[in-house]
Amino acid sequence: MSTVIVTGGAGFIGSHTVVELAAAGYDPVIVDDLRNSDERAVRGIAHIMGRGPRIHRIDCNDAEAMDRVFRAHAPVHGAIHFAAYKSVNESVAEPEKYFANNVGSLKVLLATMDAHHVGRLVFSSSCTVYGQPAHMPVTEEAPAHNASSPYGQSKVQCEDLLRDRARTHAAAKTVMLRYFNPIGAHPSGHIGELPLGVPQNLVPYITQTAAGMHERVVVHGTDYGTPDGSCVRDFIHVVDLARAHVRALEWMEEQRAPLCEVFNLGMGRGVSVLEALKTFRETSGVEVPWSVGPRRPGDIAAIWADTSKSREVLGWAARLTVSDALRDAWHWQQRL
Ligand code: NAD
Ligand code: WQD
Repeated sequence: MSTVIVTGGAGFIGSHTVVELAAAGYDPVIVDDLRNSDERAVRGIAHIMGRGPRIHRIDCNDAEAMDRVFRAHAPVHGAIHFAAYKSVNESVAEPEKYFANNVGSLKVLLATMDAHHVGRLVFSSSCTVYGQPAHMPVTEEAPAHNASSPYGQSKVQCEDLLRDRARTHAAAKTVMLRYFNPIGAHPSGHIGELPLGVPQNLVPYITQTAAGMHERVVVHGTDYGTPDGSCVRDFIHVVDLARAHVRALEWMEEQRAPLCEVFNLGMGRGVSVLEALKTFRETSGVEVPWSVGPRRPGDIAAIWADTSKSREVLGWAARLTVSDALRDAWHWQQRL
């Protein structure tokens, strides 16, 4: 079995990817010190896989510890790098923390991969690198240096680093995946998103409100130039996203030449905040109280992905719907 190192593999997207990797016949090894996740994720993965995942609880910035991991699991087939901080708000307050962890951990991983002659890397990027694109749907060719937050800038820096590296590393195969808005949970209800504190993101806030943890969802603005006035996003089921990582590894195996490619991962469809609330009500049968508040600083009005390249080159497309994702997110919330 091909061993894949999965940094951040106990996190929201990483845990679902570990499950899909194992189902596809890979041998995932998690590297995660659980700074933004916890043992519940590890237990949930074990429940779904029918065995405990292998996990090293270390900081990915620790070069010696990373070297020991790669040594222990040699030969390593490839790596998927999820480990990063991801809060836009926190990154504005503490930018250095974001550059240090997000860019720093990638540098350590790349040095470790070089030392162990590991060429294949899948990197977690974000649609945030586009800022507010001029044309919709947004293609991978759109300018990707427009991120408005330090978090987004850290992803831009990582992408630049990977492109520079591809020029000098003859054996490097790199796939950068720009996720749009990942939502949902595993249909089993054993893994899902575990927001620390009050969630900033829409779907965990909706499910927590449905569970009675908040009085109401505040819709941040209905005065945008969108069909119903609320913001529009490309929500994508986390299980579809996880499958794309498996496909990225397979695709790299099929390619002979070195490569450095970027793909959008979304459903290719814009859904507004008000539509998401309506779909949640329809799928869950729960009426979530909501009211309209002011715009949230830094929000863009609308973004959704052109997914032609992912479909035609990578051979991946989303199979699940926003309704599936909201049903699974609600199931997970109820189990929590
Ligand atoms: P998450 O916080 O749930 O998972 C990240 C995991 O990495 C956590 O388990 C955390 O403990 C771990 N981690 C962070 N820094 C570490 C370090 N130095 N050493 C060891 N472990 C460390 O986040 P997620 O939502 O699963 O996101 C995964 C990746 O996808 C991140 O790179 C994020 O920037 C990117 N991304 C996320 C979204 C989203 O909306 N969730 C969207 C686009 C891109
Ligand atoms: C979606 C919409 C809110 C909460 C973020 C990051 C982005 C990427 C994905 C990592 C917006 C509205 C939200 C609420 C609301 N992450 N909203 N009431 O901002 O599109 O993207 O996650 O790379 O970088 O910025 O996602 O879920 O926070 O918001 O009305 O209580 O829901 O204003 O229009 P966002 P989100």
